[in-house]
Amino acid sequence: MSESTSQVSVLFVCLGNICRSPTAEGVFRHLIKERGLEHAYRIDSCGTGAYHTGEPPDRRAREEAHRRGLSLDDLRARALNQGDFERFDYIVAMDDANYRDINAAAPQHFSGHLVKLLDFAPDHRGDSVPDPYYGGDDGFRKVFDMVEQGCGGLIDHIEAARQ
Ligand code: 4NP
Repeated sequence: MSESTSQVSVLFVCLGNICRSPTAEGVFRHLIKERGLEHAYRIDSCGTGAYHTGEPPDRRAREEAHRRGLSLDDLRARALNQGDFERFDYIVAMDDANYRDINAAAPQHFSGHLVKLLDFAPDHRGDSVPDPYYGGDDGFRKVFDMVEQGCGGLIDHIEAARQ
């Protein structure tokens, strides 16, 4: 755990690591940079499933990112592994199924924080980020809106905990 030292580590997790969690990683990186906090965070994303390992984010997510002035192009999918429970202070699930799967995989001694992203979004508390994979482009726009609000709230929460 690094919370008591200089960096906070945050891992965003969805199912495939090609739609929602890379979006959250990209948005979180962007917001952290805007706030001048790059030095204070280590950020990554992964999936509870390994189906898309090595693939870049879904084209629709990358296009929506470009429309909003950020890039997800360099990200590559990977699966959650046991080492993640040692290396991350915050593990951030996109939906309830992700949360349950992460919780089931966590070792008993996991001492980080397992949270759901939208619990930090004032307009969406308790909700899940909907999986946009089988829908249209509109789903990706909605995911970005929700994820932006959740990431902003999560940064506020973490920064308040660091004071
Ligand atoms: P993600 O979306 O979990 O937000 O990356 C999905 C991507 C792919 C699949 C499911 C969800 N899939 O079943 O292939």
